[in-house]
Amino acid sequence: MPPDIPEPNDARPDDAAAVHVLCVAGARPNFPKLKPVLDAIESGGGRCSFVHTGQHYDQQMSDVFLDELGIRRPEESLGVGSGTHAEQTARIMLAFDDVVVRLAPDVVLVVGDVNSTVACALVAAKRGALVAHVEAGLRSRDWAMPEEVNRVVTDRLSDYLFAPSADAVDNLSDEGYRDDQVHLVGNVMIDTLFANRDRAVARLPELRRRIPVLDGRYAVATLHRPSNVDDPEVLAGLIAALGAIGDRLPVVLPAHPRTLASLAHSAAAIPDGVHVVEALGYLDFLALQDGARLVLTDSGGIQEETTALGVPCLTLRETTERPVTVSEGTNRVVGTEPEPIVSAALDVLEHGSTPRRPALWDGRAAERIAEVLLTDDRHDRKRPTER
Ligand code: UD1
Repeated sequence: MPPDIPEPNDARPDDAAAVHVLCVAGARPNFPKLKPVLDAIESGGGRCSFVHTGQHYDQQMSDVFLDELGIRRPEESLGVGSGTHAEQTARIMLAFDDVVVRLAPDVVLVVGDVNSTVACALVAAKRGALVAHVEAGLRSRDWAMPEEVNRVVTDRLSDYLFAPSADAVDNLSDEGYRDDQVHLVGNVMIDTLFANRDRAVARLPELRRRIPVLDGRYAVATLHRPSNVDDPEVLAGLIAALGAIGDRLPVVLPAHPRTLASLAHSAAAIPDGVHVVEALGYLDFLALQDGARLVLTDSGGIQEETTALGVPCLTLRETTERPVTVSEGTNRVVGTEPEPIVSAALDVLEHGSTPRRPALWDGRAAERIAEVLLTDDRHDRKRPTER
């Protein structure tokens, strides 16, 4: 007779025997980062719950991304909406705390650097869940940037630091993180870009019908950072620079809700060569970038996407947390003064830039993340605690 096998103390239902990763997204740039991670964990035998904080809630800022990328509806929607940083972060924390206790995941996985990222990481750490940060180690060293605060704090709270590039690993090492916490996995946003590039390009004819200037050579611009669009003087200077570039080739500007609001209140007229359109979905914006001669942006993710596409990018900020897009990609950081922006644009239009791609930006970053999470044995030792 075999000896009686004792029941484990923490017996879970069969469907919960797999590693349970609670995945958080809340704002537009989070969705393309999360999609390949959800797929890789589930196809590797893990179990995911998807929580949408509702930081972004408009059709064009959220639903269109879920639909186009084939991300299922979230199991939990927190519906927190907009507010000051304190209000938004606090509302996410309160709502997410209940979810973490109820779902008792092995790991809480957060992506990027938005308020949803830091809020959920903080709750998870306090509840005793393991925290995984996808896109760890990026640093602009500009503490006035809300995202920089979010990055540094999220990394500090994390057990697994998934770095997209070697510079991020160096930053973490300089800050004293242990080697066994840090995993160089590549860039999940680029996984999604490669998976969708053909579908996106197929939409160009329809996009050209909606935005006729796309028939010829064109540039793309995006602006949404408060430091660029909330100050009327800075915004007017940037629009004037885009206008000067627009004398050479049309500049298409898909506008974030904040930018639309600032432009509506601005006394400066939109120059003829600048074409403001509503914010675009994932596939349309990817198609737009793919066909552009030049992209001008204050976004972080677009610096990476243009590098992967080999399209020249000018970053309208003083710093970048993604220096690999400069050292190994197509990006130049040109600041926010009109004159250097225009002269860099003219230079790029004349000479182009050499397409290069950073190591491990190969479409397989999410697989590497899943491999780490699903083979680690720490899940059995650390569980979120009941109140
Ligand atoms: C957030 C992220 C930023 C990211 C950006 C991408 C933080 C600190 N910032 O900035 O890193 O690059 O998302 O878009 O998390 N609004 C709408 N509809 C929406 C969402 C927002 O109209 O669906 C408007 C509201 O007026 C809101 C404002 O946009 O107050 C800003 O939204 P918020 O999420 O606070 O920050 P973003 O500027 O979008």
